[in-house]
Amino acid sequence: MSAPNPRKPRQWTVRSDALEPFLAMEVLERAAELERQGVEIAHLELGEPEFAPPPAASRACADALARDETNYTDSRGIWPLREAIAADLGVRVGRSVPVERVLVTQGTSSAMTLSFACLVEAGDEVLIPTPHYPCYPNFVRFYGGEPVLVPTAAEDGWHIDPDRVAAAITPRTKAIVVGSPANPTGAVQPRAVMERLAELGPTLISDEIYSGLVYDEHQTTSALSLGDEAFVLDGFSKRYAMTGFRLGWVVAPEAATRRLQILQQNLFISANSFVQCAGIAALEEGAGMAAQMLEACTERRSLLVEGLRRMGFGIDRDPEGAFYVLADATRFGSDSRRLAFELLERAHVGITPGIDFGEAAEGRLRFCYALGRETIETALARLEPVLEEISAHSDGRMKGMGA
Ligand SMILES: Cc1ncc(COP(=O)(O)O)c(C=O)c1O
Repeated sequence: MSAPNPRKPRQWTVRSDALEPFLAMEVLERAAELERQGVEIAHLELGEPEFAPPPAASRACADALARDETNYTDSRGIWPLREAIAADLGVRVGRSVPVERVLVTQGTSSAMTLSFACLVEAGDEVLIPTPHYPCYPNFVRFYGGEPVLVPTAAEDGWHIDPDRVAAAITPRTKAIVVGSPANPTGAVQPRAVMERLAELGPTLISDEIYSGLVYDEHQTTSALSLGDEAFVLDGFSKRYAMTGFRLGWVVAPEAATRRLQILQQNLFISANSFVQCAGIAALEEGAGMAAQMLEACTERRSLLVEGLRRMGFGIDRDPEGAFYVLADATRFGSDSRRLAFELLERAHVGITPGIDFGEAAEGRLRFCYALGRETIETALARLEPVLEEISAHSDGRMKGMGA
């Protein structure tokens, strides 16, 4: 191989090299290839609710298109949507939020793009409890920062130990990321934990995209109820099953709103105009649909958790919120990536490898249960014989090794 030419600029940026692939998407994309070959896949790999969005939201979107409402909007979002978000937060959080602090984005992902852009400087450290949503460290690295992972444990219900977070703070710590309810663990952080995290000093980036998706006696605590200095990210994808609409928001500290506005003007201009109309309708008329989905998820959680336990997966406690199970799969193999892709190819079930969520989740698989009963039953029926074969094989190997 010839040596690199020192005068030729590097082809791709160091920044883009710093990102890891999002494995849930890689599973989905391989599944799509298999589907093009005629294979039918049961999809449990993505946080993609198998429910219809609120009918009023789809209607509002279609009506806006019929009215040719297809222009750019105010970069911060149309005022009636910002008002509707603030009003909804007032009810959910129990504290009024000034409309001026709400900025509408293209999904929570764009809210993250803008918020991390505002906060993270080269060399800054950002504390991330782990297992974590795969994109958090990638956002930090993208802006030249350093993600610092703070482990949580299954035995503790994946709850964050604020003392561990406090011990990881250095003069370079810029922010703490918290997602509650969490992807992939489903953990809902108790109010006392949220309070401690908010008091530690570094800015809290609170991803509340699963807020309200809680089971049993659990309750979400919004960082908005604890003060005015957090960046609170949220969106329509999960609670209203509106993933493809790409609509979210950030509620920012007052001092950051102008910066976010300028970032939005340059990076995205605005969220889609007709989709913003759907957002208003979802907030005003979607409560019934959201409640039905939560009820269905409660039932599907039991169906999936019990089915997986029967097959030999380790699940210490039922997930408290969101709509995922992060199950211990070490009985079937320690390399979660290999196992997930093997199950996709052989059982035709899409599942996300635990390693997507950090080393703390290696040996585990994450399953989504915001799905129809039939999808979950099909997945369980397909997994059982393949997993039996895999464990018979590994038992045989262990015996061969004299174990
Ligand atoms: C914790 C978390 N935050 C953000 C997102 C991205 O959401 P959106 O579709 O609003 O961009 C997801 C998607 O799965 C998620 O799980």
